[in-house]
Amino acid sequence: MFAAEEKDKDLDTQLRKALLQASFTGTVGSSIEARLGRPIDRKLADLGRLLWFDVAGGLHSDNTCGGCHAPSDGFGDTQSIAIGVQNNNKVGPHRSGPRNQRRTPTAANSAFYPKLMWNGRFSAPSGNPFNNSQGFLFPAPESNVKFPANDPIIKHLLIAQAHIPPTEMVEVAGFTGANGAADINPRLYIFDDAKPGTTVPLPDGSGFRNEPIRQAVLARLNGNASYRKLFGQIFPSVALPANGPIDFTMVGRAIAEFEFTLVFADAPVDRFARGDEKAMSSSEKKGALLFFGKAGCVSCHAVSGQSNEMFSDFNMHVAGVPQIAPSFGVGLGNVIFDGPNEDEDFGLEQLTGSAADRYKFRSSPLRNVSLQPTFFHNGAFTKLKDAMRFHLDTANESLSYNPAKAGVDKDLRYRIGPRVTALDPLLASPKNLSRDEFEDLVEFVERGLLDPKASKQNLCRLVPEKVPSGLPVMDFEGCPSSK
Ligand code: HEC
Ligand code: HEC
Repeated sequence: MFAAEEKDKDLDTQLRKALLQASFTGTVGSSIEARLGRPIDRKLADLGRLLWFDVAGGLHSDNTCGGCHAPSDGFGDTQSIAIGVQNNNKVGPHRSGPRNQRRTPTAANSAFYPKLMWNGRFSAPSGNPFNNSQGFLFPAPESNVKFPANDPIIKHLLIAQAHIPPTEMVEVAGFTGANGAADINPRLYIFDDAKPGTTVPLPDGSGFRNEPIRQAVLARLNGNASYRKLFGQIFPSVALPANGPIDFTMVGRAIAEFEFTLVFADAPVDRFARGDEKAMSSSEKKGALLFFGKAGCVSCHAVSGQSNEMFSDFNMHVAGVPQIAPSFGVGLGNVIFDGPNEDEDFGLEQLTGSAADRYKFRSSPLRNVSLQPTFFHNGAFTKLKDAMRFHLDTANESLSYNPAKAGVDKDLRYRIGPRVTALDPLLASPKNLSRDEFEDLVEFVERGLLDPKASKQNLCRLVPEKVPSGLPVMDFEGCPSSK
């Protein structure tokens, strides 16, 4: 055997051992139907796809899932910080409108996440998103009541989650709440006082609920013959002769079913783990050994047990990402940020109210991360390599963060929040990798974790030419076929 070949064999042996030790099998991608305990319902998923792209789901007909979770970017965001309602109907670099607070994470593979969102605020207390034996836990007003244990319909965390975006004023609903459906000129509405999760008062003033918004969305769907027909083909209670109403659990099931089809977890590292040693380059293999070994990544970007091989422990840590906020001014932002200068994001503290949780965010699941145009919870970096360089030596790198150099959009360059210093102990000291080692690690994260099926060439085909409401389809700038 040639020396180089021998070295490769050696590498393969080491990597196989490391993956085995981490309990990584590379089989999670093919497990979705087994985990659901049934085949995916293609018809239901296709209805979910139409809802994903039809702005009729927003009370002012100006946004829905696809406006932020874009097929051109692995069903993640085209922007550093999401732009929700009152946008210009473009999805891509030229999207404009008021910004929310965080970057939209990719919805691909989220079927396997036991905790959703950057601060994990939607979760399966069972530790398994496919198991509702303890119900699903959401912040108020849903709390632990809306999605109770062993509900016969809301069986997966994503079915529950799909109840939320349509009620978010800054994302989808707009600011007139349930009255929005009747509001003919929403763009004139004043919108400077909304926080994520803000809810509208009930008409009788008896409290705050998201339900009136859902009812308004349902009224739209029920008033649309195409939707009634499509739902009727799947749910007998909607079809004649019953002719009953479309309800929100049906919407949630359709959207979740579509998300179940967005499993892209067949990356080189998976194929290697299943025995194909040629699936990875030797640089990727060396990077993987660092990831699972001395660089210590896998302790947070975990693959065993409840992490479902998603490269996240689904726990919250202080990673000290630079805090960037939109410039002040009408139309530039519609969420009031945290902190005395309203230029911070307190992360998990928003949920728990505990200062000990300040700046804690979920370890990002890293599959297909290289499809993202920006990185971290606020898109503070636009190159994976820069983000990783920062992440490997945050204490030092954060002293010289420069948003212009990092490539963020102009409106995000002028309000930089305080530097975060109390880092997670695992990130507190530099990783000290040689230049070659760093390159290998980047190679692994960039290519070794990428499922080619998540590419825009593949996903842009999911954009429908027409949607049931007849409203214009959003303009996906990143999709080759887009206008
Ligand atoms: C305005 C942009 C926007 C729209 C529209 C939107 N989302 Fe999101 N989505 C986000 C952001 C931002 C987050 C992360 C929020 C956070 O962590 O606070 C997110 C998180 C998620 C997650 C969790 C992913 C993870 O990594 O935990 C899922 C699933 C999801 N959205 C599904 C949907 C669905 C389904 C719709 C449509 C019904 C939708 N989203 C509409 C911006 C959007
Ligand atoms: C202490 C736990 C921890 C360790 C150790 C860790 N990370 Fe992270 N990582 C995080 C957290 C938390 C985030 C999200 C931070 C944020 O957005 O505020 C993150 C984000 C990332 C991102 C950006 C992902 C995205 O969605 O934009 C990459 C890439 C990454 N980590 C790679 C690595 C690599 C490679 C290593 C090993 C050298 C590593 N991480 C070690 C916790 C950790």
